[in-house]
Amino acid sequence: MKVLVTGGLGFIGSHTVCELLDANYEVVVIDDLSNSSIDVVDKIKEITGKDFVFYQFDVCNEEKLDEVFSKENIDSVIHFAAYKAVGESVAKPLMYYENNLLTTITLCKVMLKHGVFKFVFSSSATVYGSPKTLPIKEDFLLSTTNPYGTTKLMNEKILEDVCVANDNFSVIILRYFNPIGAHSSGLIGENPTGIPNNLMPYIVRVADGELKELSVFGNDYDTPDGTGVRDYIHVVDLAKGHIKALEKAANTKGTRFYNLGTGHGYSVLDLVETFKRVNNVDVPYKIVGRRPGDIAACYADPTKAYEELGWKATLGIEEMCKDSYNFILKQKNK
Ligand code: UFG
Repeated sequence: MKVLVTGGLGFIGSHTVCELLDANYEVVVIDDLSNSSIDVVDKIKEITGKDFVFYQFDVCNEEKLDEVFSKENIDSVIHFAAYKAVGESVAKPLMYYENNLLTTITLCKVMLKHGVFKFVFSSSATVYGSPKTLPIKEDFLLSTTNPYGTTKLMNEKILEDVCVANDNFSVIILRYFNPIGAHSSGLIGENPTGIPNNLMPYIVRVADGELKELSVFGNDYDTPDGTGVRDYIHVVDLAKGHIKALEKAANTKGTRFYNLGTGHGYSVLDLVETFKRVNNVDVPYKIVGRRPGDIAACYADPTKAYEELGWKATLGIEEMCKDSYNFILKQKNK
């Protein structure tokens, strides 16, 4: 089985490529390096001891994509390539709509042309907007609060329509909760450029002394300690979910949706305290006002993924904190 992974050098993509190679899939990666580094190619090879094919270009380039499908005998596609910064999407909506929709549309066109019908899509819990009750199930009402989220929801709709129009098409839509952690080797992980927007990358840089202190965005939410609650999931668990999704896509037709989360909610302060304890390091923080657009709490009901995909998260919050820090320490000492 040969799998095309778009955005395969990014945070979730690179961990998924490792899992695919470990499971003996042949892998072709397309990545334009817009938010990833070429070093990741060698790191994946080092981790897995296996080789894969890499093409550097933008998935919106239909001509090049067509060439890859003509040359490689691709059976299925996992599509990660997308812009993903919420704040940036508010400032640059057209850039987000253009890139995040065109990549999927171009991929679908070329897949149909070449008779490739198995598609796994990287969606997000952001499509649930502000859920009225918790935990979140797949059949909850969908809504979005920023252009990034809207691109994910629009992609889901596009893929559903492609499935309706093409009987052979099979799409598995994975709605991720909050991926953190890193590969246990410390060779790949999340390393955003500039000041991080997300909690774990920020904590790591404070622990490391690169940033002075964490700003905790609000302690007046209706949560046990007043800070925001999220369903943090280890990126390796998340990556394994894609293998299960591919197996499902191989035997089904139509569109299916799955939450990939642990089902447990942790507050900002839970995460900070766990990080300090397991890594034996200080993380100074101050409480500031709420961040616009944030919701109080969000965690998954992951039952459907367990029952239908046979997937369940196995790594806990301590491993997530240890592996996130280990990755940064390794990066520094390389
Ligand atoms: N937080 C802080 N300080 C920071 C950063 C975050 O207190 O410096 C808090 C937030 O207020 C929130 C929690 O930490 O309560 C998690 O925030 P993140 O930015 O790490 O993650 P979000 O839940 O806001 O969003 C993430 C991804 C989105 C995705 C969403 C899906 O960034 O792309 O999860 O639920 F859509």
